[in-house]
Amino acid sequence: MSVTRAIAEANTNIALVKYWGKRDKQLNLPAVGSLSLTLEGLSTRTEVRFDSTLAADALTLNGDTAMGEPLRRISKFLDLVRMRAALSARAQVVSANNFPTAAGLASSASAFAALALAATRAAGLELTGAELSVLARRGSGSAARSIFGGFVHLHRGVRDDGDDCYAEEVGGATEWGVRLVVGVTSEGQKETLSTDGMQHTAETSPYYAQWIATSEPDLAAARKAVAARDLEALGVVTERSCLTMHASAMAARPAVVYFLGATIDGYRAVQTMRKGGLPAWFTCDAGPHVKVLTDAEHAEEISQKLAAVPGVLRTRVCVPGKGARLVEEQS
Ligand code: DP6
Repeated sequence: MSVTRAIAEANTNIALVKYWGKRDKQLNLPAVGSLSLTLEGLSTRTEVRFDSTLAADALTLNGDTAMGEPLRRISKFLDLVRMRAALSARAQVVSANNFPTAAGLASSASAFAALALAATRAAGLELTGAELSVLARRGSGSAARSIFGGFVHLHRGVRDDGDDCYAEEVGGATEWGVRLVVGVTSEGQKETLSTDGMQHTAETSPYYAQWIATSEPDLAAARKAVAARDLEALGVVTERSCLTMHASAMAARPAVVYFLGATIDGYRAVQTMRKGGLPAWFTCDAGPHVKVLTDAEHAEEISQKLAAVPGVLRTRVCVPGKGARLVEEQS
C-alpha cells in the first residue's frame, strides 16, 4: 500500500479586467486575458491523499460527502495530475472554504488553485508557479490567477496547447493599499453558472465580438495603471470592463442577466460616492453582488455607505492576499 498526501491553501480573487468566453472548451482556454486582485482570508484549504487501496476518488466538500457533478469535475482534474505523475492511485480529497458560499465571492478560483497545488505535491510533482497556473486553469479559468498573490495577469496566450496561457503576478497591491468592498445582495445560488453564461454569450450575443475587441486595450490600460499606481485609471477600466462584459451577456438570446435591483442601486450609490469625492469604482461578476474598488483610507466609509443601500444585506472589506501555499506534505 502506498499513501502520499499534501494540504494546500489558496485565496480567491476578483477580476478587475474580466474573463468571459473561451477559445477552447476542452483545454479551458480563455478568449481574453484578464487581470485580478487576490483577496486575503477568503480561502479554500484542500487535502489530497493518494491511496492505492481506494477503489474510486472521493470528495468531502465543506464537511459533506459530495457525489455527482462536483466529484466528476474533481476526478477529471485529478486524472490530469495522475497522467503527469504516471500514477494510478485514486484519491481522497477533503476541501473546505473558510468563507460561506453566500459571502458573494466565487469559490471555484480558490478551490482549483488549492487542489492543483495539493494534488501535484501529493503525487510527488514539483511544478513552477506558471505550470501550476496552467494546470489550475483546466479546473476553472479564474483559478489560474489564484496561484499568485496581489495583482495577477492571466495571459490569453496564442498556442493551441494552452501552455502560454498562465497567470503572472504584476505586483504592488500590498504596498499600494488597494481594497475591495463586497456588498452581498442575495443569499441564493446564482442562476446561470459562469461556464454556461459565457458559452451562451459567445454563441448568441451580437455584442460578443465587441466585448472581445475591447478586452486587450482594457488590459493594457489596467497594466499601465497598476504600474503607475494610478487608482483612478484602474478604477475607470475596472468599471468599464465589468459593464461591457455584462452588456454582452445581456444581449445574448435569451438574455443572461446577473443584476438584481440591489445591484443597480449599489452601482448608483457608487456613482454618488464618486461625485462626492470618494475613490470608488463598481464591479460585479456572474452574480448579483456589488464589489467596489477603493483604497485603505476610504474602505470603511464606503463599506458603511454601501451597507445603507436597500437590498445590500451585508458588506465586507477585503485586503490583497497571497498566492497559493503548501501547508503540509507527507509521503
Ligand atoms: C465573471 O473562472 O468561473 O468571474 O473557467 O468556466 O470555470 P470557468 O469560469 P470562471 O469564470 C469567471 C467569470 C467572471 C470573470 C472573471 O473572474 O474573470
